Amino acid sequence: MQSDKIVFTGMRPTGKLHLGHYLGVIENMVKLQDEYKCYFFIADWHALTTKYDKTEGLKQDIIDVATDWLACGIDPNKSTIYVQSLIPETAELHIYLSMITPQNWVERDPNLKDMAKILRSKEGFASQINYGLMGYPVLMTADILSFNADFVPVGVDQVAHVELTRDIARRFNNIYKTDFFKETQPLLNSCPLLCGLDGNKMGKSFNNDIKISDTEEVTAKKVMSAITDRSRMRKDDPGHPDECEVAFKYWKIFGTQTEIEKVQCECQKGLRGCADCKRQLGTKINEKFAEIREKRKYYETHPEIVEKILLDGSQKAREEAKQVLSTVRKLVKMF
Ligand code: TRP
Repeated sequence: MQSDKIVFTGMRPTGKLHLGHYLGVIENMVKLQDEYKCYFFIADWHALTTKYDKTEGLKQDIIDVATDWLACGIDPNKSTIYVQSLIPETAELHIYLSMITPQNWVERDPNLKDMAKILRSKEGFASQINYGLMGYPVLMTADILSFNADFVPVGVDQVAHVELTRDIARRFNNIYKTDFFKETQPLLNSCPLLCGLDGNKMGKSFNNDIKISDTEEVTAKKVMSAITDRSRMRKDDPGHPDECEVAFKYWKIFGTQTEIEKVQCECQKGLRGCADCKRQLGTKINEKFAEIREKRKYYETHPEIVEKILLDGSQKAREEAKQVLSTVRKLVKMF
């Protein structure tokens, strides 16, 4: 470990993760664990903000996320991996922070506005915005400040949350005349976003993703369904890699420089049909994930090991959070 700075990030338990998660965050997490003291957690309370009435699959979803993390190389001997709801100190911190957070700070949160719009378009009792969902960004702040983290690796969509964390931390420091909470910085990943097989944002609910856990056959089949250059009719027509909606974008992410140039050149000259191109691409992706998928099989068949890692990590994380909370209680002058 080269630095004692703290890196902290988490994911909601959405079940099995896709390649977008891998390239967007997990790969980065694996690197960071060699450089910093890392906490990686699964945000099961955050899942409840919208899925409080669908909790049957929650435990399995948590195990699935952890299984993917471990398969990808997140190492419990280097990082602390934990489950949010096993750290009640975070809930306590959430209470203190909620007392000092102006309501309009949470209302201006852009993600919350989006979620609210989606919810309002639905019918029935799930269409209202509950108190807990309003507090989503404050809970996220409590996660981060439970460990007084220095850096939070996140996607662009979460940067506003980290800014809010800083605002709340500053306000806490002002009110309680301290400099205890650090000014957390977001760490943006430079990796380009991997789009879904249909060219839109990759997402589980859009049915356009490739899972880390997909077999080679499923991956190959999914890649064959990827959108290419819509204006191209026959395979020996000259193609337009820059108008290729998915396949060439994937090549740019998964291929070597030489491969990318070869694909580009052959496509432009009409020497490479889209079907062949995607067959090769499928093979390429399968090669990249072969080792991870092999490792995943081990954890998948030993869920008790995954569970034990989460329980041990949570215990370790809790010890740290307890210390932070003990300071916070003193600063707030609780009984
Ligand atoms: N909001 C994040 C997501 O939707 C998950 C999350 C919760 C998180 N608390 C966090 C991420 C704290 C980073 C830091 O994926």
